[in-house]
Amino acid sequence: MGVLKMNIDHQVEIFNKQAGKYYKRAKQKNMDFRLRRKLLQSATGDILELSVGAGMSFQFYPKSSRITAVDFSPNMINRAKLVAADQGRQVDFRLGNVEEIALPEKTYDTVISTLSLCSYPHPEKVLKRMASWCKEDGKILLFEHGISTNTFVAWIQHKTNSFYFKKVGCHTNRDILKLVQESPLSIVKSEHYVLNTVHLIWAKPV
Ligand SMILES: C[S@@+](CC[C@H](N)C(=O)[O-])C[C@H]1O[C@@H](n2cnc3c(N)ncnc32)[C@H](O)[C@@H]1O
Repeated sequence: MGVLKMNIDHQVEIFNKQAGKYYKRAKQKNMDFRLRRKLLQSATGDILELSVGAGMSFQFYPKSSRITAVDFSPNMINRAKLVAADQGRQVDFRLGNVEEIALPEKTYDTVISTLSLCSYPHPEKVLKRMASWCKEDGKILLFEHGISTNTFVAWIQHKTNSFYFKKVGCHTNRDILKLVQESPLSIVKSEHYVLNTVHLIWAKPV
């Protein structure tokens, strides 16, 4: 499958340019919205959201939750700040690279990643970090996209992966389930959609 290489500053720029699009999406009640709601209603307590984007998921968290949100794109963080202010939520925003940022171990009740395992150079490292930041009895919630089990769709995904990565900064052909199964996360429940390209995963640290 391989990892395509890109300078991190260039990848930040690619996501900076998409911040407006993500901000608009936060208001659309489409399939993405329904799947997020289904998964994120399980979020409780102290929440750590990785690669928060424009804050699309804030609306699904309990009003009482404390949120820490990380992203390496200043434009995404700025949009997410607007969304948080709009919803009257206090969010501790951290600008930084999820692969490098220092966060306290075994601290968060819920660690969340939506549509971001596709972007990291080392997704297995991020999964390991998620497990380490989550409390032992906490939850890890994932809404991710990746390679289909349908061979024709998978073929298209492999063919378009390089183009897509250069254009939007994410891989289309990662085997998300395999990555999670081989990580220090234990899957509690999972659901799969759109020819198994989209996954909702409820997990916990091993
Ligand atoms: C496809 S968007 C998803 C945004 C958001 N999670 C959502 O579901 O709407 C991917 C996000 O990951 C962020 N990102 C990608 N790689 C990152 C990294 N290494 N560290 C921090 N943020 C990263 C991007 O800036 C972008 O906001």
